[in-house]
Amino acid sequence: MLLLAVESSCDDTSAAVLDGRRLKSNVVTSQDSLHADYGGVVPELAARRHLESIDAVIASALDRAGVELCEIEAIAVTRGPGLVGSLLVGMAAAQGLGLRLGVPVTGVHHLEGHVLSPLMDSEIQLPLLAMVVSGGHTAVYLLRDIGDYAELASTRDDSAGEAFDKGAKMLGLGYPGGKIVDEMAARGDSRAFRFPRAVVKADPWAFSFSGLKTALWNQLGELHGASRPSDSLPLADICASFQEAIVDVLVDRIMSLALRLEIPRLAVAGGVSANSRLRERMKEACDGAGFELAFPSMPLCTDNAGMIGYAAQRRLELGLPGQPLAAVSRLPLGPVLRP
Ligand code: KG4
Ligand code: ZN
Repeated sequence: MLLLAVESSCDDTSAAVLDGRRLKSNVVTSQDSLHADYGGVVPELAARRHLESIDAVIASALDRAGVELCEIEAIAVTRGPGLVGSLLVGMAAAQGLGLRLGVPVTGVHHLEGHVLSPLMDSEIQLPLLAMVVSGGHTAVYLLRDIGDYAELASTRDDSAGEAFDKGAKMLGLGYPGGKIVDEMAARGDSRAFRFPRAVVKADPWAFSFSGLKTALWNQLGELHGASRPSDSLPLADICASFQEAIVDVLVDRIMSLALRLEIPRLAVAGGVSANSRLRERMKEACDGAGFELAFPSMPLCTDNAGMIGYAAQRRLELGLPGQPLAAVSRLPLGPVLRP
C-alpha cells in the first residue's frame, strides 16, 4: 500500500512516502536556524514555519518517490506528543489531503515512530527494550509486540537531548548542541572533569539530568566565571567529560533493565541515538553481554515522517487501530511498569 506520512510535532517539517514497509522518500526541513538565537524551540515560530513549509515538503516527498498524489492510498500523521500548534499544521494538511483524495487518514503516536525506527534497517525481533533519547523524551520501553508497549523508565526532569543542548548553550557552542558536543568530545579526554551520574532514590530506574547542568555551570564558574565562557576553556575535555556522564547513565540503565527482565535485544532511537560515543559504548556493552543491538540509520534518528509512516504500516498490517485525529501535547506510549 502506498502511504504518505506527515510529521510536524516539534520543529522539523517532514513528509515521506512508503510502499508497504519500504521507504521511497523521506524529506525533512529543519527549523534549526530559526530557533538558534533562542537556544531552544519557540512554539509559535515553529507552528508558523510549519505552515509555510508543509505543502512544499509534501510535494517534494511525492516527487522524490516518483509517486503522483492521486496514487496515495492512505495517509498517516503524528497526533502527539508534541507542540499542539505544530501538530495541528501537519494534521490539518493530512486531513485536507485525505478528504480531497478520499483515502483514510490515521493518527500515529510520535514515540511509536521512534521506538520502531531501529526495526526499519535491522532484522531484530520483538520483544525488545527500546530507549528513546531525544530533545523531548528520555525513556525506556518494553516492546512486547507491535502496539503492545510499557514504559519501564523515564526522566524526572530534563531529557538527554536537553542536557546536550543546554550544556552546549552554556559553553557558547550553538544550537542544537548535541551534534556539536559530540564532535568536540571526539578530541577531548572524558576523564578530565568529573560530572555527576544521578540516581533518583525513589525510582532507581529513572533518569535525571538537571543536576548535570548545575554541575557544568559550577565547573565553568570555577574555571573562568560562569557568565563568560571564553576561548581559553578546555572545551574538548569539558564536552568529552559532560557527554560521558550522559552516556554512562543511559548505557547503565538500559543494560540493567535488560538483565533484570532477561531480554537480550536492545534498540536505541531518537535524536541522541546519533551520538557516536553512545553508539560505541552500547555496542561494547551489548557485545560483552551477548545482546543484540539495533540503532536507526542516521537520517532516521531525529524527527522524520519515514518512521511515522513505518509505524502506521506495521499497525495496518496487523489490523490495529490508529490514534484518534486530535492533537495532544502529552500522550503516554503505554502503561508504566516498574520492574
Ligand atoms: O528526536 P529529535 O529530532 O527531536 C525530538 O523528538 O526531541 O532529537 C533532537 C535532539 C536535540 O536535543 C539534539 O541536540 C540531539 O537530538 N542530537 C544529538 C546528536 N544529534 C542530535 N545529541 C547528541 N549527539 C548527537 N550526535
Ligand atoms: Zn522525536
